[in-house]
Amino acid sequence: MPGGGFSASVPPAGVEFEAKITPIVIVSCIMAATGGLMFGYDVGVSGGVTAMPHFLKKFFPVVYRRTQQGDDSNYCKYDNQGLQLFTSSLYLAGLTATFFASYTTRRLGRRLTMLIAGIFFIAGVAFNVAAQNLAMLIVGRILLGCGVGFANQLLGPENSTAHAVPLFLSEIAPTRIRGGLNILFQLNVTIGILFANLVNYGTSHIKSQWGWRISLGLAGIPAALLTVGSLLVTDTPNSLIERGRFEEGKAVLRKIRGTDKIEPEFLELVEASRIAKEVKHPFRNLLKRRNRPQLVIAVALQIFQQCTGINAIMFYAPVLFKTLGFGGSASLYSTVITGAVNVLSTLVSIYSVDKVGRRMLLLEAGIQMFLSQTVIAIILGIKVKDHSEDLHTGFAVLVVIMICTFISAFAWSWGPLGWLIPSETFPLETRSAGQSVTVCVNLLFTFVIAQAFLSMLCHFKFGIFLFFSGWVLIMSCFVFFLLPETKNVPIEEMTERVWKQHWLWKNFMVDDGFDDDEPKKNGHRNGFDPVSQL
Ligand code: BGC
Repeated sequence: MPGGGFSASVPPAGVEFEAKITPIVIVSCIMAATGGLMFGYDVGVSGGVTAMPHFLKKFFPVVYRRTQQGDDSNYCKYDNQGLQLFTSSLYLAGLTATFFASYTTRRLGRRLTMLIAGIFFIAGVAFNVAAQNLAMLIVGRILLGCGVGFANQLLGPENSTAHAVPLFLSEIAPTRIRGGLNILFQLNVTIGILFANLVNYGTSHIKSQWGWRISLGLAGIPAALLTVGSLLVTDTPNSLIERGRFEEGKAVLRKIRGTDKIEPEFLELVEASRIAKEVKHPFRNLLKRRNRPQLVIAVALQIFQQCTGINAIMFYAPVLFKTLGFGGSASLYSTVITGAVNVLSTLVSIYSVDKVGRRMLLLEAGIQMFLSQTVIAIILGIKVKDHSEDLHTGFAVLVVIMICTFISAFAWSWGPLGWLIPSETFPLETRSAGQSVTVCVNLLFTFVIAQAFLSMLCHFKFGIFLFFSGWVLIMSCFVFFLLPETKNVPIEEMTERVWKQHWLWKNFMVDDGFDDDEPKKNGHRNGFDPVSQL
């Protein structure tokens, strides 16, 4: 999920406000991390349980029979719309809930929205753990998806839907480490996925229904943490200020920072909130010609991110490994390896994104992903016939290595950068709308991959990996020609230093007037004095 979340009190101008690390800051960071873990756990858990015979027997007897009989094509054993819906429904629900969540965040504040998310998560886990039939299972996933939709509003950059000003990470982080800090959220997601992979591996050894029930049930731990946490933390100062509760906002700020010297930061928040309110028609602004480059890039990055095929692996690796003839335990074990590679490679991204830049990472990863997918397709094409026996061990190891090569490239490029780049390129006037569009397009395409992959595998066979590698080629060309470098460029200077310098996008940077909706770049206009709000 989206990057962002932790706030370091550094305003764009580089002036540091006084701030201590108070318990409430620590709790808030834990909550933000929990949201990422929770999302990651839900991404990783479904594929593992899908590969468990007890689970299949209970909910998908048709698929179970196919896996036992072996007279269907290897590639088609798991091709079942219901099975795919079990994974995909979460993302469709998340997409829908995102719209409601932006409303509750605005009206009720972050704390209550967090509580709502936690309750959805707990209800979803309860339905999943107790599931007696497919309907209960899917309802559980839908409720989890609603939780994700609401949690998005709190933890990702899209919280700007309610707080469209310099308070989310990409804006407040010092420019030189903006990328690395932003990717911390993605790191939590990958840790959540790995955790789910490990749990699935452990519970697969339980030879009863309890295996999958425990796997699905453990998602209850972060869900409970999130819910209890929302009862413990206070509402954020920016959320209170935004709703006109200035005195309370100030009091909370004092508490959070652990000092009485909060006036400068408070003024900044008030000003930020005022600017946010000035942006009256963010969606209309988004369609203006001068904002086309950022919109095209954000939408393209989300579609491309999903078309790398990453979630075919994240969701269905255990099933894929079983398709290749791995045993149940070996598939889950191999999935743990790929999950660990995902986490470690995300660290590489945190370290290098502000040094080598976004383009370099994306282009290098493009080559790596293209080659690894092509090699996987060749091995499968030669070795995995429709009704062949197991893949020879040597080839099986090679496939796992190639999948790890692919994942590592994704994890230091398209994974985190798909979220980072939109969060640092949208200008203030379109930030809230831009981030919402970014999240929605991502969830939509995640849904499509989750719902279609097993059917595509059945029809395309090994060719599915050539299909994804074709996309990787297209997206690498997109990066090469159309994606400008944003490393070390302060957000306020993007237009001058990035867009106006680009061979194509500069044509869109015509000054088409200063309308009412548009606040000035430095945030101060018409001699407004934030002190008047005190
Ligand atoms: C993507 C998710 C994916 C995850 C894998 C994220 O950036 O948005 O769809 O599951 O990376 O680590």
